[in-house]
Amino acid sequence: MLLITGASGRIVNRAAVLLAQTGHALRLMTRAPERVKDFEGAEVVRGDFAEPATLETAFACVSAALVISGSGRPGERAQLHRNAFEAAARAGVGHVVYLSLQGSSPASKYPYSRDHALSERYLTATGIPYTVLRNAFYLDMFLERFEPDGVMRGPGSETRGAFISREDAARAASAVLANPPGGTHDVTGPEALSLADLARRFSAPTGRRLRYRSESDESARDRLSKQESDAWRVDLSVGWFEAIAAGELEHTSNAVFRFTGKAPMNLEQYFSLFPELLQPLRSTGDRDSVS
Ligand SMILES: NC(=O)c1ccc[n+]([C@@H]2O[C@H](COP(=O)([O-])OP(=O)(O)OC[C@H]3O[C@@H](n4cnc5c(N)ncnc54)[C@H](OP(=O)(O)O)[C@@H]3O)[C@@H](O)[C@H]2O)c1
Repeated sequence: MLLITGASGRIVNRAAVLLAQTGHALRLMTRAPERVKDFEGAEVVRGDFAEPATLETAFACVSAALVISGSGRPGERAQLHRNAFEAAARAGVGHVVYLSLQGSSPASKYPYSRDHALSERYLTATGIPYTVLRNAFYLDMFLERFEPDGVMRGPGSETRGAFISREDAARAASAVLANPPGGTHDVTGPEALSLADLARRFSAPTGRRLRYRSESDESARDRLSKQESDAWRVDLSVGWFEAIAAGELEHTSNAVFRFTGKAPMNLEQYFSLFPELLQPLRSTGDRDSVS
């Protein structure tokens, strides 16, 4: 029996569809079973990292589990993951696959990468055989960073990052859960792009003149503090760009090919396969459209 946690999430949902096609016995854990689509042959159980009692049932009789990072404040979130790893150890789970982040380190500029480093430490402390997949930032996430004027602002500098499609991240995670290799792996897209490169590359498929404007950490912090009252959320937004600027996501790996037998998609290939993802950014024939 394979277990996937956080079953209503986008990566998990896709990984579950892919695994269900291979005929593996599958259990899907979620906090909200009513939000999870029916999969033929998959069992859906209610489970929440914040409620350890629910994890006993979820992890029972499981040979390998894919633990998806949950939501929450950095630091507190790692404690939730610890609950999951400890429940897996108590249940005698044979292997845990943990979805982490490229650049995971106690010294990272990005608070969630520090949280992932702590989570990884909790996982290794259980002694369960494990595979850690350190996913690059998802390409889709950049779509939300463009403001209505077509500009993405942030202290990302000109440094490149090997950003990945959610589809390749899901394919890699499902392949690894079915056949875990062990160890810690960066899971990245095929090429490293700067934020200015990304803006240029998104311009053609959206029909808009999209741009990236680098700003200082201080100016980003000032700007975001006016939009967001929680200081830790401002730290997350600024740290996300700072991690890119520091080169934490620069390394390109061949993990997707090694795990799935298929090269990861570049930006154009990904969005031509899922054009609906670009819809919020598409030109409405306004002033910044590309002729
Ligand atoms: N690499 C990146 O750029 C990047 C970007 C965004 C997110 N991520 C991480 O990658 C993961 C997968 O991405 P995604 O796109 O699938 O994210 P997503 O759609 O936001 O899904 C995250 C899932 O985490 C689960 N979760 C939240 N709190 C939980 C808790 N207390 N106990 C158990 N499960 C909990 C939820 O599952 P249920 O609601 O079904 O319980 C949710 O569906 C995310 O969890 C996130 O940590 C990475």
